[in-house]
Amino acid sequence: MIFITGDTHGHIDYSKLNTSNWPEQRSLTKEDFLIIAGDVAMRWYDAGPDGSLAGEDRDLIDWYNNKSFTTLFIDGNHENHNALNSYPVTMWNGGKVHQIADSVYHLMRGQVFTIDGSTFFTMGGAASTDRYNRVEGKSWWPGEMPSESELMEGIDNLTRYGMNVDYVITHCCGKSLFPLLFGYNLDSDTLTSYFDHLEFDYKLQFKHWYFGHYHKDRTIDNRYTCLYRAIERII
Ligand SMILES: [Fe+2]
Repeated sequence: MIFITGDTHGHIDYSKLNTSNWPEQRSLTKEDFLIIAGDVAMRWYDAGPDGSLAGEDRDLIDWYNNKSFTTLFIDGNHENHNALNSYPVTMWNGGKVHQIADSVYHLMRGQVFTIDGSTFFTMGGAASTDRYNRVEGKSWWPGEMPSESELMEGIDNLTRYGMNVDYVITHCCGKSLFPLLFGYNLDSDTLTSYFDHLEFDYKLQFKHWYFGHYHKDRTIDNRYTCLYRAIERII
């Protein structure tokens, strides 16, 4: 089984994954997956000079690793991207990952994974709207936005799959969804424009697109789901 949810924000919003709120996890095993669509903040603090993790990060990683299921996450804009990028890059189910713990994986940007026979395109990152009250290197990291090469890698990998995947997992969404999601337009950026570019210029085909970031639970046109508190079963 594969489930998906939205932002967990370190210790702030992870309680939605408690057994009391999500009892289905009792029957899951490490062969089952929970995907978190960004803003996981699994790593928030820099490691010490000896490589040791801050207690808060260690506890959070252990908490996920001790769950019944395997945790997969993309990055959002509330992450220590430097810390995530300090893990070795390995291949897992067809795409690049950072393995954070035995059963916790960061699904890197621009990858296509095949999990239980379904394909998943992943592209984390987003622009922070609260940048003004965050401090670079302490609570905000410039790596929140994908680089040109990560965006190109996404197009290359999707091209290998004929621009056709089962699921798209991102943190923010294409800018064309803003009026449907909010009733008005928001400023677009490189990434929200890129997603529209994939869909309307490259004609990306997909069954369902899941994203987080906007702290809402809403499905649009039966094809796009914005997730926050909801935990939905994909497969
Ligand atoms: Fe968030």
